[in-house]
Amino acid sequence: MEFPTVFLFGYLMLSCFAASCFGVTFSSLHKTLIVSASSPLGHVLKAGEDELTINWEFNQTFPPSTDSAYKTLKLKLCYAPESQKDRPWRKTVDNLKKDKTCQHMIAERPYSPSNNSFVWKVDRDIPSAKFFVRAYVFDGQEVVVGYGQNTDRSKTFDLFTIHAITGRHASIDVASVCFSVFSVGSLAGFYYMERRKGKISQHK
Ligand SMILES: *[C@@H]1O[C@H](CO)[C@@H](O)[C@H](O)[C@H]1NC(C)=O
Ligand SMILES: *[C@@H]1O[C@H](CO)[C@@H](O)[C@H](O)[C@H]1NC(C)=O
Repeated sequence: MEFPTVFLFGYLMLSCFAASCFGVTFSSLHKTLIVSASSPLGHVLKAGEDELTINWEFNQTFPPSTDSAYKTLKLKLCYAPESQKDRPWRKTVDNLKKDKTCQHMIAERPYSPSNNSFVWKVDRDIPSAKFFVRAYVFDGQEVVVGYGQNTDRSKTFDLFTIHAITGRHASIDVASVCFSVFSVGSLAGFYYMERRKGKISQHK
């Protein structure tokens, strides 16, 4: 290899590392965060209506310097195995760049080791499925360096069932649109009648 080629190759390798283009695997991450999720309504929630409270903190049994490079945290809603079955578009892949388990972003926050809480109103576009919550922490280069989740390793404990916005909601929406069209219509009609009356009385 000539010198410039070597140089270019080295440069590409370096920028590759910086951008983590080799892809971090989930199995290489330590579960350094304790994450919990709860709702006064229990474990069955309605999309677009109900709220989920998520708390997280650094697990103090890890050495204190473990989280010194932690910068940001992303909370995500993830499909439980039961809701991934026969759905390759929700498949779990160890390479996190290809993983489709956690498709729904809940929130992004600067990392803090304790006293973290976030109340999330379940997004209107969440489909009906069983979910858990996972937090990923990232370093200053936006490389994922740790995680935590509100469920166990096999992802069966403490799952949340979310019901998507249904026909019931849709018909309420349609009804309210109709109703407002109707009220605008009757207001216009009323105004027109009043004007006519006014004109008639002026002609008298
Ligand atoms: C904290 O981490 C240790 C070591 O991995 C683990 O044994 C323990 O269960 C964790 N604590 C909690 C509350 O998850
Ligand atoms: C945790 O947050 C509460 C409310 O924001 C605050 O009053 C309390 O001092 C915080 N505790 C710590 C240890 O930061």
